[in-house]
Amino acid sequence: MDWRSELKALEDALTELKERYRQAVDPNVLEEVRVKFLGKKGPIKALLTFIKNAPPNERRELGQAVNRIKEAFESWIREKRYLLSEKEEEVKDPTLPARGIELGHRHIINQTIIEIVDIFKGMGFALSDGPEIEQEYYNFSALNIDITHPSRDAFDTFYLNLPPDKEKGKYLLRSHTSPMQVRIMERFSPPVAVVVPGRVYRPDAVDASHSFMFHQIEGFLVDTGVRFSHLKGILMEFAREYFYDEIQLRFRPHYFPFTEPSAEVDISCLFCKGEGCPVCRYSGWIEVLGCGMIHPKVLSAVGEKYIGKTGFAFGMGVERLCMLKYRIPDIRLFYSADVRFLRQF
Ligand code: PHE
Repeated sequence: MDWRSELKALEDALTELKERYRQAVDPNVLEEVRVKFLGKKGPIKALLTFIKNAPPNERRELGQAVNRIKEAFESWIREKRYLLSEKEEEVKDPTLPARGIELGHRHIINQTIIEIVDIFKGMGFALSDGPEIEQEYYNFSALNIDITHPSRDAFDTFYLNLPPDKEKGKYLLRSHTSPMQVRIMERFSPPVAVVVPGRVYRPDAVDASHSFMFHQIEGFLVDTGVRFSHLKGILMEFAREYFYDEIQLRFRPHYFPFTEPSAEVDISCLFCKGEGCPVCRYSGWIEVLGCGMIHPKVLSAVGEKYIGKTGFAFGMGVERLCMLKYRIPDIRLFYSADVRFLRQF
């Protein structure tokens, strides 16, 4: 017996079988096929018997080859049976309701962006977006961020490997949405009142509260006679609507190169109402955004039409606001492929 050609014939037979019974078959036919192949008079049995008498040096190779074919055949049978049983179940009760199509929904970050933008729309702000690939001029220089400022360092900004623009400098992934203040003022004359949501990128180490990519919403308003009190009023209304609660705001002096004066805004802790708890690190306050009066240097960088105007700007982190509202403990959940988290919203 030339077992090599026997084996070849067996493999071909198996291939042909798969082809022939591609469509589901009657379970009885399937059983017949199984017996024909694996049964006492089947070719596999014959080859296994042959192995016993095969020359010892060929036994191992032959044994492995036969087993491979046997296993492939068995798993094919199992799969067919499974498919058949599924089919049977389907036919069993034709009155069952259809399985239905699962409808997707917006990611919670996008829901949050829409919710926040709607609040500002209600106060008369327009909506815009802007490029995630920015230039040094918009991300830094026009915002009065000096060439020596640490945020311009390659450790704090993702620079792209592209030839720099002669006027606007290197290309980078924007590290905040503030460049849109300048881009929009370049295109539109005052008064302007705009919110700009979008992605921003920073080469931070990823942990429970940091990600190399997150979302911000920039807002700004420029006109004649705009004061810090207008900024306060707008942000207080925003906080009241977003957290729908009697929430306190605290404006804490801060520094940003593109606003003067600048402030960071804290909300009174939602969880302990200011008593002190782990979320607010026992301070009673939680930082939620940066803001200030747009620096005159920024206005004059834009050009003639903005000189003498005043305005305010603010920038908030969407993930952070969302985490506070729903008590989400880890920013990484937003970007995880495990949709069980996202299904909850
Ligand atoms: N761009 C600042 C940041 O990312 C936030 C900010 C926006 C501050 C507007 C002041 C005015 O931290």
